[in-house]
Amino acid sequence: MAPESATRLSDRAASLPGPDVLAAFEAAKGFMPRDEGLALYAAAAQAARLGLPLLEVGTYCGRSTVLLAAAARDAGVTAVTVDHHRGSEEQQPGWEYHDPELVDAELVDPETAVAPMDTLPTFRRTLFKAGLEDHVVALVGRSPQVARLWQAPLGLVFVDGGHTDEHATADYEGWAPHVADGGLLVVHDVFPDPADGGQAPYRIYRRAMDSGAFAEVSVTRSLRVLRRTGAGL
Ligand SMILES: C[S@@+](CC[C@H](N)C(=O)[O-])C[C@H]1O[C@@H](n2cnc3c(N)ncnc32)[C@H](O)[C@@H]1O
Repeated sequence: MAPESATRLSDRAASLPGPDVLAAFEAAKGFMPRDEGLALYAAAAQAARLGLPLLEVGTYCGRSTVLLAAAARDAGVTAVTVDHHRGSEEQQPGWEYHDPELVDAELVDPETAVAPMDTLPTFRRTLFKAGLEDHVVALVGRSPQVARLWQAPLGLVFVDGGHTDEHATADYEGWAPHVADGGLLVVHDVFPDPADGGQAPYRIYRRAMDSGAFAEVSVTRSLRVLRRTGAGL
């Protein structure tokens, strides 16, 4: 085989997660379909070559974190994931995406019989089972509060937190400035047509594109990968 095509093949292999990683991703609770997961992994594997941390907003139960962690491990960098672990609006009891297995029954309110969500234990089990604990730093807190403390450049920022305008805008303004030159900004749940889903992630995606600081690299369903090509927000 010619050296050039051998390189292309190994590049393609490097942008696919191993079968154990894919199995851990698929076994984890979460909402991301396989094709978006593969696109996220490919972006993370590429961004990790910058030698900088990869950061996720919106850990939930660790489904997407597994992919970032595997890419980070393979490149010798660290994945950082931020979540308050109390769930987004649509995951609260009575809402469409609520999972009754993810509540802290010890904290049930005697008057309302409602218990708060706690996805942290499930997330920890996901990472442990995947054998990826050593490659992840999990920050438990509100994204804007954590972002205010953050100073280091990042190879990749994956925005998959709260889906209101308030949360999505705070995630963009808090984390996008840390994406290094040549690094990637990945936004989940981008729906140009309001009939397909909420518009807040689409609005931050448009803002990034209109800033002139980012160029689109790939589109997989609702997952958009952008590269920083210039300064700004
Ligand atoms: C859609 S889920 C993330 C799914 C996950 N990335 C996956 O692929 O499985 C959104 C998560 O964002 C978290 N979240 C929402 N708003 C947040 C905020 N302001 N700060 C920190 N976490 C937040 C919620 O607790 C929830 O776990």
